[in-house]
Amino acid sequence: MISGSVRCFLPAYLFLIIIFFTAGNAQTEIAKKAMVISSDAVATEVGVNILKNGGNAIDAAVAVGFALSVVFPEAGNIGGGGFMLIRDKAGKSVVIDFRETAPAAAWRDMYIDSTSILNNYSLRGAMSSGVPGTVAGLIKALEFYGTMKLKEVITPAIELARNGFIVNSRLEQKIIEYEADLRSYPSTVKTFFKNGNRYVEGDTLRQNDLAKTLIRIRDYGADDFYSGVTANLIVDEMKRGGGLITKEDLKNYKPIIREPIKGTYRNYEILSVPPPSSGGICLIELLNILERYDIGAMGFHSSKSVHVISEAMKRVYSDRSEYLGDPEFIKVPTGVLISKRYARERSSDIDTMKSTLSGNIKPGIVNVKDHPNTTHYSVIDSFGNCVSVTYTINDIFGSQVIVDGAGFFLNDEMDDFSSKPGIPNSYGLIGGYANAIESRKRPLSSMTPTIVTKDGKPILILGGRGGSAIITSVLQTIINVIDFKMDISSAVNASRFHHQWMPDTLFYEKFCLPIDVNQNLKSKGQNPCEKENYYGAVQAILIDPEKNMIYANPDFREGGSAKGY
Ligand code: GLY
Repeated sequence: MISGSVRCFLPAYLFLIIIFFTAGNAQTEIAKKAMVISSDAVATEVGVNILKNGGNAIDAAVAVGFALSVVFPEAGNIGGGGFMLIRDKAGKSVVIDFRETAPAAAWRDMYIDSTSILNNYSLRGAMSSGVPGTVAGLIKALEFYGTMKLKEVITPAIELARNGFIVNSRLEQKIIEYEADLRSYPSTVKTFFKNGNRYVEGDTLRQNDLAKTLIRIRDYGADDFYSGVTANLIVDEMKRGGGLITKEDLKNYKPIIREPIKGTYRNYEILSVPPPSSGGICLIELLNILERYDIGAMGFHSSKSVHVISEAMKRVYSDRSEYLGDPEFIKVPTGVLISKRYARERSSDIDTMKSTLSGNIKPGIVNVKDHPNTTHYSVIDSFGNCVSVTYTINDIFGSQVIVDGAGFFLNDEMDDFSSKPGIPNSYGLIGGYANAIESRKRPLSSMTPTIVTKDGKPILILGGRGGSAIITSVLQTIINVIDFKMDISSAVNASRFHHQWMPDTLFYEKFCLPIDVNQNLKSKGQNPCEKENYYGAVQAILIDPEKNMIYANPDFREGGSAKGY
């Protein structure tokens, strides 16, 4: 007999499946030569125009990055940082690490008050900001790997800031959600409210101070941001708000060119980003463990596959908390963590019938939160160059503080450090000393811009947002394509689950797990728990080299737009 709760569950479950697999398909963009996908239609259009005007994928990626700082101010930025993964048409790959750094005056216990309690200064206000890396990172990418002049790629952003853009419902909703925080800072009120009122859908938002900042960057390059007028405005904002960033900090900021993290999964090669992001190492460690199981044969969202994937996630997130941090400050055992041998050892105690209690693995990570904070975009050009970029100001609207006179939000990336060993940050992630605050150190990230290739040809360019769930969202999209043979819309839009070891809870999106799967997982000792919100948002491009076709489909969780030609 079907119980009442099952009776009402089944139709909703089927309904959602239909939405995921048909609504997504309807939006799939198909192209032959090139594609851009980002969280915002205007920014995507900017990227496509750059490509059509002869720019390569790097030119387009830099243009999209600047455009998002105008039209997607909740996460797109020039006041934050991120990672750009480039794979050129010849197969050479590189990462530009433009993660923020802690100001020189930062110290380990700076967010712990006299009674040993953590305050929230790592999340709000000037003290939460690290030294921004985006401007230096985008300009470095353009200089080293682009073909166009800075003026050409930044002009669309300048025009959008100066002439304005139409506020959409997404931005209106975010402003409503964060209104109280945003109203706490006069410089933010000046930019984001008109005569004290919220901007609403359909309004034109002009950002004159931001336009002036982008014009200075156009004319003087990174020098303006790090030692010119904009630098002075940032330092003035710090003085007003009690922040730590100095002129010296800005002058000393340097993006770092790094080797990508490389691995393989079945017949595919995986490229992703190294520390200070945990994304690449965790993704490859997860894939190495899962390669030991026939996930495809176990079945999509079957209790067998969900159980094994969760067991892998627990182990990898416990390693994350222990071993990962800024490689300039700690020795990260990258070689070991991404080796097949380590995956063999790490998975040797996975019991396919029984959950391992998280407490029996290692302490480290508590609570789970997903902030739609970060943003990812992917580009492929007609030459075969691929770019995968994730950048962020951490929380939605970062520190909530707009630099007065410069018109952009500063990040609250200092919260990605472990402010106090054993106490979670806003994603519930705890680190040990590997990710403790230190002067000039980069906080550990979960950003996972990734490129998957097969036989030397790009297959997937992807990444996402979602805090600690970025890694597991990217993972599930990859296995949806490789193991479950899904098309891009199904792979991106399929419901997801997430386990980050502590708490010992298998979080899943609404309707992800049918009742019988849920019960089977419980009988194996898992602790499934439905989440109120969605997990992350993935923006991916899928290439079929045999058909010579390119596909992309924005994640329904965020929307956005894919456009190709
Ligand atoms: N700020 C989120 C991350 O870097 O993972």
